[in-house]
Amino acid sequence: MGLLLHGVLLLSVATLTAGLDVQPGPKPLGQSVLVKRSSAEEKAAKVAKPALPAWLTPTPHHKIRRRSIEPGDSCEALQGHDAKLADNTHRYTFNDLSGSVSLAWVGDGTGVILALTTFQVPFFMIKLGQSKLYRSENYGKSFQDVTNLINNTFIRSEFGIAIGPENSGKVILTGDVSGGHGSRIFVSDDFGKSFTHRELPFIPLMQITYNPDNSNVLLVISNNNEMWLSEDFGSNWEKVHSTVCLVKWGGKNTIFFTAGLNGSCSDRGMLELRRTTDFGKTIKTVASKIYSFGVGGRFLFASVMTGKGTLRMIHVSVDQGETWNMAQLPPVGHEQFYSILAANDDMVFMHVDEPGDTGFGTIYVSDDRGTVYSKSLERHLYTTTGGDTDFTNITSLRGVFVTSVLAEGDSVQSVVSFDQGGEWVPLRKPANSKCDATAKDPEKCSLHIHAAYSTAMQLNVPMLPLSEPNAVGVILAHGSVGDAISVMRPDVYVSDDGGYTWIKALDGPHHYAILDSGGLLVAVEHSPTQPIRKIKFSTDEGQCWGVYNFTEEPIYFTGLASEPGARSMNVSIWGYRDYLLSQYWISITIDFRELLTRDCEDKDYVQWLAHSDDISDPNDGCMLGYKERFLRLRKDSVCWNGRDYQVNTQPTPCLCTLDDFLCDFGYYRQENSSECVEQPDLKGKVLEFCLYGKEEQLQTNGYRKIPGDKCEGGKMPERKEIDLSKRCVSDLVGPELLIDGHSSKSVPIVITIVIVMLLSIAAGVLFVKKYVCGGRFLVHRYSVLQQHAEDNAEGIDEPLETNHTQNGKIVFHDDSDEDLLE
Ligand SMILES: *[C@@H]1O[C@H](CO)[C@@H](O)[C@H](O)[C@H]1NC(C)=O
Ligand SMILES: *[C@@H]1O[C@H](CO)[C@@H](O)[C@H](O)[C@H]1NC(C)=O
Ligand SMILES: *[C@@H]1O[C@H](CO)[C@@H](O)[C@H](O)[C@H]1NC(C)=O
Ligand SMILES: *[C@@H]1O[C@H](CO)[C@@H](O)[C@H](O)[C@H]1NC(C)=O
Ligand SMILES: *[C@@H]1O[C@H](CO)[C@@H](O)[C@H](O)[C@H]1NC(C)=O
Ligand SMILES: *[C@@H]1O[C@H](CO)[C@@H](O)[C@H](O)[C@H]1NC(C)=O
Repeated sequence: MGLLLHGVLLLSVATLTAGLDVQPGPKPLGQSVLVKRSSAEEKAAKVAKPALPAWLTPTPHHKIRRRSIEPGDSCEALQGHDAKLADNTHRYTFNDLSGSVSLAWVGDGTGVILALTTFQVPFFMIKLGQSKLYRSENYGKSFQDVTNLINNTFIRSEFGIAIGPENSGKVILTGDVSGGHGSRIFVSDDFGKSFTHRELPFIPLMQITYNPDNSNVLLVISNNNEMWLSEDFGSNWEKVHSTVCLVKWGGKNTIFFTAGLNGSCSDRGMLELRRTTDFGKTIKTVASKIYSFGVGGRFLFASVMTGKGTLRMIHVSVDQGETWNMAQLPPVGHEQFYSILAANDDMVFMHVDEPGDTGFGTIYVSDDRGTVYSKSLERHLYTTTGGDTDFTNITSLRGVFVTSVLAEGDSVQSVVSFDQGGEWVPLRKPANSKCDATAKDPEKCSLHIHAAYSTAMQLNVPMLPLSEPNAVGVILAHGSVGDAISVMRPDVYVSDDGGYTWIKALDGPHHYAILDSGGLLVAVEHSPTQPIRKIKFSTDEGQCWGVYNFTEEPIYFTGLASEPGARSMNVSIWGYRDYLLSQYWISITIDFRELLTRDCEDKDYVQWLAHSDDISDPNDGCMLGYKERFLRLRKDSVCWNGRDYQVNTQPTPCLCTLDDFLCDFGYYRQENSSECVEQPDLKGKVLEFCLYGKEEQLQTNGYRKIPGDKCEGGKMPERKEIDLSKRCVSDLVGPELLIDGHSSKSVPIVITIVIVMLLSIAAGVLFVKKYVCGGRFLVHRYSVLQQHAEDNAEGIDEPLETNHTQNGKIVFHDDSDEDLLE
């Protein structure tokens, strides 16, 4: 099977003894912090379209029109389901007062959920705590207390529940044994049915990571920066290397790590990048003078000091570090950073921070070699301090990405690209909403999406934008409608065509989930102070919503949990009840199977052409050289897609045009022209660019297919190839070079989803953690190469941050895609 998703969910509630004392929502921010009213739509557009040496000129033919598959019906179909749902609502009350719950789905379609509750109090300098473990085999409908399996050991909840790759059924819990030189883990290879304990001869600094290709092989860095490896699922451990600063699994049993030479990781820029393919028996240095490194798709990136002062540059390898090329990106100084926003086997989106503490930088998109970059978006919002960016891959439609720009006047505005970063435009105003007060012209404004930045600013945004590959075209997101993102209470907007058109679906902030491959959407109002009893659901992609009272006695809601992968029909509402002297966790699981009583048939599906706006145009719907027709569920069909539902797509290639090519190194496009012409200012100059060792790659006719573009025939650039090698100079202070590198296929990526919900209730001391846990090593889709982890002498992973926050604040943080590299 392709991607398998594991989920880890964390809910947290600090217990208290004297009732609730919750402030109504987060402290409102001053307008000036986020939105300084200024720029109109045109400005956003200007920002969005860089005029500078764009090697890739935008394809200007995307008129945006509503292409919903059919108009929504009246909303009457969703009445009178209460009885059906009531019979399928399962409550489970935990006899547990603990402060936080982590949930993890073990396996795919097994229905096994582990719930780990932990109660921790900072007691002077030590943390005292207690953990309980619960296990469900029926998607959360009931749980069993299995705390005895871990012998009542306190589990370090910051390391979370480490779920093995694919359907291995493996689970690791890291125990906290204070004092001493060792540590203890509990491992299971039968989906958490039984656990055995293993003693570690070291104290782990991070969560133990699995080899994505063989879940018996475990890797971890200890608190004294030694790298330890086990080949027998934790029974025996071997020290592989000392002074290891950062470690990543590559593909095919490959481990990459940076090592400090003088016994310290603080010497950034002087580290060595090493590789082992036999679990430490032989170790090869593949690059030196390394500042940091990262893995994205089939690319290995390293930022290497240039030897000229404090500047560093990105170098790229597609053969596991055997040969390196210098990326055609600007060098950065000490205070700047690079960040891999998204990468797959074809290409990478790279953010390059602007000098100075501006909070923005420039997005570049790479060619298929990862070496030649085109400027994609300027003034891209990316705070240095928090490392927050709104960049989001819309996984429900190929080529669509959403992010935010910091416009003139420091207002934050959302932009969308439908062609993998070629062109960025403001999001279209939803037909059923009005421009808010941020709009200069009340008729003209756009939709702005709240993502990680708003969450970091502690706006009342409980969830990030949501899309799923098997729910074609569907996006759910919080947003506001105006000239810029508003700090006012956001609403939930839905798109059914991959972001071209939107409607306002729900008033106010909600938690939401996609079930049954998009056939069912559910949402629960985000209401930290008021107990709730309602869940909303939609069978027509968010146009109409039914309401079901899932409980007589309302609960304080903390989060919505459903199996990752969006195929489930079971959704759990987590929360707690609060009595004068006690609180306890409650989980209410609703099985929606009875709502969608019949299986979908052929007549329930209609054809839909993605990215299309003019069916009479033969090139309509062409995106990266091909168009895709999908069979999508009719909006008025109330039926069950089923767990085995496969996205049904019929791709057809398009004829090539010059716009299917980007300009190779040394070439550029003049304004309004698709032709790549030689860049005159490069003639006779020494280039900091080289593809050395690979003669054939230095032959260019100035054009290169856009990565992932599958166009056929049509207009192909015809031009004599010239040899660029004479221009090439590289100053990579490198290790041994090439023995005919062969590029390796990519790592099968297992995505670990970490959903984090924290609810703090006044309790004297308040601690709300920004939680980052749960097998993050497997996530390669979003990586950061930045400098501030420098302060983190261990240099391992992003350190856990502890924020002291306002009482009663809800923090919802989804770090699912985050893989901070240093
Ligand atoms: C729990 O403790 C008992 C007795 O000390 C031991 O036999 C058992 O193996 C332990 N179980 C686990 C999972 O560590
Ligand atoms: C290690 O330390 C020595 C002496 O302190 C210094 O000369 C050398 O440059 C250092 N090497 C690195 C890689 O930091
Ligand atoms: C965006 O997400 C899609 C669907 O998961 C994936 O296939 C694609 O590779 C991603 N793109 C990038 C650049 O990461
Ligand atoms: C659901 O609860 C609300 C009160 O929150 C009530 O007004 C409504 O009648 C209830 N609906 C049903 C079907 O019981
Ligand atoms: C919902 O949960 C039940 C077990 O309680 C399970 O049999 C069923 O397959 C689940 N439905 C889906 C679609 O996952
Ligand atoms: C490019 O096209 C735009 C609009 O068609 C026009 O305003 C502009 O002057 C053109 N630029 C050049 C250099 O021709």
